This record gives sequence, C-alpha cells and structure tokens, in this order.
Amino acid sequence: MEEQILIFDSHTHYTDSAYDEDRDALLSSLPEKGVVRCMVAAYDMESAVGSVQLAERYPHLIAAVGVHPECTEVPGDYLLQLEQLAKHPRVKAIGEIGLDYHYDGYDPDFQKKIFREQLALAEKLRLPVILHCRDAMGDMLEILRECRPKQGVMHCFSGSAESAREVIALGLHIGFTGVLTFKNARKPLEALAQVPLDRLLIETDCPYMAPVPYRGKRCDSTMLTEVVAVMAREKGVSTQEIGRITAENAAALFACPLD
Ligand code: NI
Repeated sequence: MEEQILIFDSHTHYTDSAYDEDRDALLSSLPEKGVVRCMVAAYDMESAVGSVQLAERYPHLIAAVGVHPECTEVPGDYLLQLEQLAKHPRVKAIGEIGLDYHYDGYDPDFQKKIFREQLALAEKLRLPVILHCRDAMGDMLEILRECRPKQGVMHCFSGSAESAREVIALGLHIGFTGVLTFKNARKPLEALAQVPLDRLLIETDCPYMAPVPYRGKRCDSTMLTEVVAVMAREKGVSTQEIGRITAENAAALFACPLD
C-alpha cells in the first residue's frame, strides 16, 4: 500500500455556511485521510469567534483571528476584541489581514489603516500573520517593508515570480492553493519556482479554489493531494516529501507541533 501523504492545510474557512450540513462528519473524518492539521482563518469578527470555537472542538484544528480587507467597517473596539480572542491557546496567528483592491468601491486608506493596526497587534502578541493580497502587491510590499512582521505567510499567492522573491526576502512563507493545478497556472508555477522548500505551504482556502479535477465543487482539505502532486513534479521530490516538508513548515510557523 502506498504511504499516506501528510497534509497540513494552512488556510481553510470551515466556519463557512457551505459546511453547515455536514461540518462535524467532514472535520471528524479528516485525520484518517492524512489531514493532520488545518488552520481555520477568520475574515471578520463573527468568523473570528467561530474559528476559535472550531479549534476548541477539534484537536486537529487551530485558529487565526483577524479582519479581512473586504470588511468595510469594524467595531470601534475591534482590536481589543481580537486581542481577547487571540489569548486563547488554540489561536496561532492573526489573519487573514491585508489589502484587496479587486472589488468595486474599495477604500485603500481604510484597508491600510486596519492592516497596519492588525500587524501591530500581531507584533505585540508575538503571533505570525496570515496575509491576503489581491491586486495590491505594490502597497502590500511597501507596508511589509515598513512594518517587518517577524513571521507570516502570504496566502493564496497570486503574484509574479519577482514578487515571490521579494516576499521570501522579507522572511515570509508563501502558500499555494488549487490554482496551481489549473490549466492557466503558468504564473503561479513561475512563482512556485522561486520559493525554497523551507518556505512553502499548501492550502485549500476552502470552500473555494477546489483543485482540478474537483473544480466547481465544494473544496475540502483532502483535495490537497492534487496540489501536492503538482509541487512534487515541479520541485522534483516525492509527494510524501512535499507533504512532510509543508506540514513541518506550517507546524513551525504556527508553533503547533504535529504530535
Ligand atoms: Ni481565505
């Protein structure tokens, strides 16, 4: 029998309503399918509370708390609320936070303000950051150079090979999703080539981004074997090695041992 591939899914959204029907059955079944850990990332205050609750309930889940740049408003005391939540021992990162200039009517000044505030919170709490960046790489890199987060991951990487080099030079990790398996994956594959094995993470960003051959279906962490297969091919190492290395990278980044 072929050895099972170790999977640490470094970015999920299992609080999403897409899992309301069968969340418990799905999450309980992950470890027997090789999924040893999942990071549940928050995107607003409600999902921050939800991610902590899930991580409390399942020993193979850990949580991040933070406000995504698509949030157009936050409670006046949101930083205090995040700080309280982040004191929970299952919270291992601040995220996802960042910049997103993709959607109509975005407010770059507000985004930069809450991004900087949450980077400062992560620094204060000595937690790594989970970074979201869409169509905003210039401003993102500028803020990162200024704020210098000590540890973190640029998740669902969509930038160029050159940006990947810059992110690596800043000491950060890079997470790749099912996008690597898509037909038009030339750009992410070029970026992947720039990322040394010790900075590489795998993630679903589920329920979105299901890899080929599951495109259009609800995604879950077991589908990451498809992403692992592409990475193994591109990096010239075995799928088992990619699974093990990315799991060890995520375990170190999120201070969350695998046993
Ligand atoms: Ni996400």
